[in-house]
Amino acid sequence: MDLERILNLNQFEAHAREQMEPYAFAYYCGGAGDEITMRRNLDAWNRFSLRPRVFVDISSVDISSSMLGTPVSMPVGFAPTALHKLAHPDGELASARATGEAGALICLSTLSTYSIEEVAKAGGGPRWFQVYVHKDRELAIELVQRAVASGYSGIVVTADLPAPGYREREFAHGLTVPEDASPANFPNTATEEEFNDYLDHLHDRSLTWDDLSWMREAAGEVPVLVKGLLTEEDAILANEHGADGIIVSNHGGRQLDRSPAPIDVLEEIVQAAGECEVFLDGGVRRGIDVVTALALGAKGVFVGRPLLYALAAGGEEGVGRALELLRAEIENAMTLLGVTRVDEITRAHVGPN
Ligand code: FNR
Repeated sequence: MDLERILNLNQFEAHAREQMEPYAFAYYCGGAGDEITMRRNLDAWNRFSLRPRVFVDISSVDISSSMLGTPVSMPVGFAPTALHKLAHPDGELASARATGEAGALICLSTLSTYSIEEVAKAGGGPRWFQVYVHKDRELAIELVQRAVASGYSGIVVTADLPAPGYREREFAHGLTVPEDASPANFPNTATEEEFNDYLDHLHDRSLTWDDLSWMREAAGEVPVLVKGLLTEEDAILANEHGADGIIVSNHGGRQLDRSPAPIDVLEEIVQAAGECEVFLDGGVRRGIDVVTALALGAKGVFVGRPLLYALAAGGEEGVGRALELLRAEIENAMTLLGVTRVDEITRAHVGPN
């Protein structure tokens, strides 16, 4: 397909739908319950207005930044998403090469279809690792230690999945993971039975804030973030328990339906987060979304589905095209907003409507 004809992130979805098996597409696109939160994630941005400043010398615009000490060419990451081989045979290798080439961050999922080590070798760019804490905690510690040894510079602990959300599209289509797309970070998940057994033990419902301490220990010097917070109460607890960062997220509307859009709660969380750097994901589709999140206090954002769709549409080149479009949109938004660097974007650039 001619990727040059795709002009924004929303346009990848239709191509992905054509390329993907219906069950895999249903797994990617679906949300929980009536998908109210999933839609809210997209709609919420429109309630904010941007306040452009004029006659600012913007002859050069630099969108590079750093995310918890990791230098990035733009404040954007590929959100941790499972099973990239369902989109394309090159899976996370293609995603890591494209993000590495663009200087954007990739956060690898625990449930990646290429291993922590294979992805590190392929990409070479900025990378974090997302961990689901398995009931067998030794397994979680081992994953974190492998990621640190392979140069991942952030450990993201996902907190909003004590159990999967009520995802009816998945119920309707079933999620059968073919053997050649099974998670690569563990032995014995190749057959469907083994995979289901593994999933049954994946989510430790007894996890509490106190468990952050052993995860921090396993991560050593590498910063630890908690992903999936939506309240100031939890932001305070994250800070008190020594998290280095928070990703405000509702898992792309795949967990608790009617939970708020991350952009609507970002500011309260930033105010409560103390020392933590705050990031956001959910419904980020445009450069103006990115600058809105930065203005309300995020240090960076993550994008999920559109990059998965881009992977399905064109493999490494598809993801590269999506990141190129997002980069151009961010540069354009900053130019028209009258800011030359990411750290010049302030609360004053977002207004009441
Ligand atoms: C996810 N997400 C996710 N999160 C996580 O911490 N670990 C994971 O393995 C996955 N897997 C996953 C698979 C698929 C198909 C999707 C769509 C999402 C959630 C993801 O990190 C992120 O929170 C959302 O995707 C952000 O919303 P958008 O950008 O998809 O709207």
